[in-house]
Amino acid sequence: MEAFLFALLQPAALVVQSGGRSLGTLKVSDVGLGTLNLPLGDEKPPAAAEALAAAIGAGCNFVDTAEAYGFGVSERQTRWAAEQAGVKIGCGKGELQVATKFAPVPWRPGAESVVEACRQSAERLGVKTIPLYQIHFPDIIQPFSALGLSRRKDEEYWMGLARCYEEGLAANVAVCNYGPTMVTRVHEFLAKRNIPLASNQINFSLLYRKASAATVERCAELDVPVIAYFPLANGLLAGRYDADSMPRFPKSLTMKKYVVGGTEGYGAGYLPLLTELRRVAAARGKTVAQVSLNWCVCKGAIPIPGARDGAMASDNLGSMGWRLDDAEVRALERAADAIGFEFSSGGFKLE
Ligand SMILES: NC(=O)c1ccc[n+]([C@@H]2O[C@H](COP(=O)([O-])OP(=O)(O)OC[C@H]3O[C@@H](n4cnc5c(N)ncnc54)[C@H](OP(=O)(O)O)[C@@H]3O)[C@@H](O)[C@H]2O)c1
Repeated sequence: MEAFLFALLQPAALVVQSGGRSLGTLKVSDVGLGTLNLPLGDEKPPAAAEALAAAIGAGCNFVDTAEAYGFGVSERQTRWAAEQAGVKIGCGKGELQVATKFAPVPWRPGAESVVEACRQSAERLGVKTIPLYQIHFPDIIQPFSALGLSRRKDEEYWMGLARCYEEGLAANVAVCNYGPTMVTRVHEFLAKRNIPLASNQINFSLLYRKASAATVERCAELDVPVIAYFPLANGLLAGRYDADSMPRFPKSLTMKKYVVGGTEGYGAGYLPLLTELRRVAAARGKTVAQVSLNWCVCKGAIPIPGARDGAMASDNLGSMGWRLDDAEVRALERAADAIGFEFSSGGFKLE
């Protein structure tokens, strides 16, 4: 009886749908859940619990967050949503594999800042060991560079990352927004210490594949998995915007040119690509978002689409458990090439 009651009090184990992917020591679902677009003014918003529950229900066990999302709010929110779903954050089978990030901002002095930030993130997530700890971007914020006073601390941060790994604060370590040169350098730096680079998280989608191609290729050579952020190009590739349904203000300010064009370099917008996405989706009995995310999976990346609620999460995670065929992938890429622009969203230039 006691054992039975104890079992009832244990967090539920997650069931990973479809094949799943190795990410260092982790085994994650083919598609994860991004947390950036959840309401960050509140540590316990129902939308976060609903999105995570829907994702878990669809076989997802991988969530991406960052200390920078709401200055710790997103990490606490992730912990709370996991508790609401009755699952434990951890590295084991049946646990929620959470990735978070260290922000290399100019006032952080070096290696010790990474270790300290990692400890704080672990505390906010309620774990001893963070499943995947990433450096958010290269040390490119150099406020005094105009005066010739830039001092990059990338290597010091890598040393900090190595210490997080060696001290057991992070089970796996990784980077984000690293291009071919930087990913090669950090891979080599960590390899000298027998530490594997678990992944590189970059902007990658059907609408941002050319600008990322050299990085994706280099990651494949190094056997470093790519995690795809903006896999839905902020909603464009979910098919929700067209001439009759424009993004609302203030998103409209940056998105209008992608949707209907009318600005130099953006032709008639992405509508011809959307037509092709809708054609493939209808033929497959899938949604446009599912087709776009499945394209990322077919390219070997692990997309982490952001969702604002349970309905979006459940739609997005329906991209798992099936595959577009080669002809569909080629047709989508031809349609993406034909529109003649990509969706950068003012992101990082990969170096
Ligand atoms: N490492 C980095 O530097 C970095 C940078 C950016 C993001 N990230 C990570 O990557 C994740 C994904 O990026 P993201 O969330 O910014 O962009 P995204 O996944 O490309 O787009 C998410 C947005 O698309 C719309 N959407 C999502 N699912 C939908 C569906 N099924 N139907 C209709 N619309 C849908 C929503 O737009 P609305 O909000 O307009 O409703 C949602 O906020 C983030 O959550 C974050 O974890 C990392």
